[in-house]
Amino acid sequence: MCGIVGYVGGRPALSIVLDGLRRLEYRGYDSAGVAIVEDGTVLTEKKAGKLANLEKALAERPGDGITTGSTAIGHTRWATHGGPTDRNAHPHLSADGRVAVIHNGIIENFSRLRAELEATGIEFASDTDTECAAHLLAAEMRALREAGATPGPQLLAEAMRRTVRRLEGAFTLLAVDVEVPDAVVAARRNSPLVVGRGQGENFLASDVSAFIEHTRQAIELGQDQVVLITPAGIEITGFDGEPAEGNEFYIDWDSKAAEKGGYDYFMLKEIADQPQAVADTLLGRLSDRGEIVLDEVRLTDQDLRDADKVFIVACGTSYHAGMVAKYAIEHWTRIPCEVELASEFRYRDPILDRSTLVIVISQSGETMDTLMALRHAKEQKARVLAICNTNGSTIPRESDAVLYTHGGPEIAVASTKAFLTQLVACYLIGLHLAQIRGVMYADEVAAVVEKLQSTPDSLRTLLGQMEDVRALARDLKTASTVLFIGRHVGYPVALEGALKLKELAYMHAEGFAAGELKHGPISLIDEGTPVVCVVPSPAGRGVIRDKVVSNIQEVRARGARTIVIAEEGDDSVRAYADHLIPVPKTPTLLAPLMTTVPLQILACEIAAARGLDVDQPRNLAKSVTVE
Ligand code: AGP
Ligand code: GLU
Repeated sequence: MCGIVGYVGGRPALSIVLDGLRRLEYRGYDSAGVAIVEDGTVLTEKKAGKLANLEKALAERPGDGITTGSTAIGHTRWATHGGPTDRNAHPHLSADGRVAVIHNGIIENFSRLRAELEATGIEFASDTDTECAAHLLAAEMRALREAGATPGPQLLAEAMRRTVRRLEGAFTLLAVDVEVPDAVVAARRNSPLVVGRGQGENFLASDVSAFIEHTRQAIELGQDQVVLITPAGIEITGFDGEPAEGNEFYIDWDSKAAEKGGYDYFMLKEIADQPQAVADTLLGRLSDRGEIVLDEVRLTDQDLRDADKVFIVACGTSYHAGMVAKYAIEHWTRIPCEVELASEFRYRDPILDRSTLVIVISQSGETMDTLMALRHAKEQKARVLAICNTNGSTIPRESDAVLYTHGGPEIAVASTKAFLTQLVACYLIGLHLAQIRGVMYADEVAAVVEKLQSTPDSLRTLLGQMEDVRALARDLKTASTVLFIGRHVGYPVALEGALKLKELAYMHAEGFAAGELKHGPISLIDEGTPVVCVVPSPAGRGVIRDKVVSNIQEVRARGARTIVIAEEGDDSVRAYADHLIPVPKTPTLLAPLMTTVPLQILACEIAAARGLDVDQPRNLAKSVTVE
């Protein structure tokens, strides 16, 4: 939610910050703005809407030298407080115009602070919660100066510490001050912030893609830390001023990974990346002893053996991956497994203890609902294992063990390769649990891993056969509703297909467990209603497959136009399919690795055919860092 960039160094800062914002725009695109410290003043420019509007405004700005300053901050917003307007766009200035602040998150006690500041005569220029931080920071700077503190970066850092001690909620704050031209100060609580260490220059950003072109050395800040960057150094303290350290790491992907690479949309590129992403996530996972290797394990095999219950907690697409995992984990391990939406989990007071294993799944590693669920689980002494795609993010850092998906950066708001790699990670964890609990033998585990290892090739074949799906998308672009049905692991696939279509094409789409249709939703079906049916493999549990085929007949009998996704060679479904989309043969539990792909392409192409912004659908942001 929102992209933040800060730069200090020897080069003109504006273009560096704008480049960074371009790479972070997927995090929020309600408005964009920059502040540059230059010639004894803080220059700002901000505009509602996408970054292009800001760039246009900057280009039209009369020649006031905005491009030469070498200290700057920039922001792309996902509005929480106040509409997406120019005046609510960040940066926000203090009343004296000396301090500029940008913010990611929500300051929960802002109305109290605002009333207090207004009582001192300050007039607010926006409706945001953020603006109170700018006024507070300026007041702290003033108070410190009046108390005789030496003007300079340390004064700025101390003023920031005093400010954040008054704030409640979630925030990453970045600030510059006119009297400290070579410094940017930042603070972090519950929202993401990484530092990029350059030579004679340093960077701050919501994620590393903003500065990866300039440096691969990064530091992830811990909870409740303040960081001061100058061209010469990076200084980290706690909110009370105690010296602190961040977590240093090397970024092991290059900037090309965050570019479109010739595709029209990031989403298409990320769909095409899936065979490699799956292969990378599998790489090196089987030890010489045939055991599954996790990445960071801060719990013992005994802890995992003792687990008598598994909860999988996640949001959105990651939640759908968790739903698939439930089938695999229960089947392989025989441990009861429940899947929960992170936003519901802690509020219903789940029964957790030290023998509960909580698996949290998050592409970004920053989703606030999932992070809060994780913390709740840890407070109840449960063990937490994270599946995450983002090195250096909060969720893996706070978990007891981590399995990283090596999908590379996912830029499109709609999650695709993250989903497939999360499935792979879930399968690996299921196999790991089954093995260390003695429910599966090493050779049985190896046999499943071998099947997994053949999926990148099958995915490549499948991706080469998507022309019909593209044509179908053009045909469906005017449908008023599209339904998706599936059973067993096909049910979460149906939900995922519907989610993709909703978020990208703004169409009414719903996924159902195929058996539930006759309990109500079947009345939605009218002459010509498209129904996408996910058919399980006939080689698996034949009875489930036969039931789905009956469900297809039921909807056809009521006029539905059926789009059937079935294993290649399963010709008996052809008779019930207005459109048949064959996918390569895959074992039943692994089938979502194939059946999801046509649904991703369908949603992407329908959105494109409707002329919509595929990568940045309205009202959304890639990383949801508020509850
Ligand atoms: C999927 O297309 C969405 N962008 C969304 O549902 C996403 O999966 C969800 O917000 C969870 O994000 P996370 O995996 O980063 O935690
Ligand atoms: N709460 C702030 C606002 O609404 C920050 C939102 C964001 O994270 O982009 O402006």
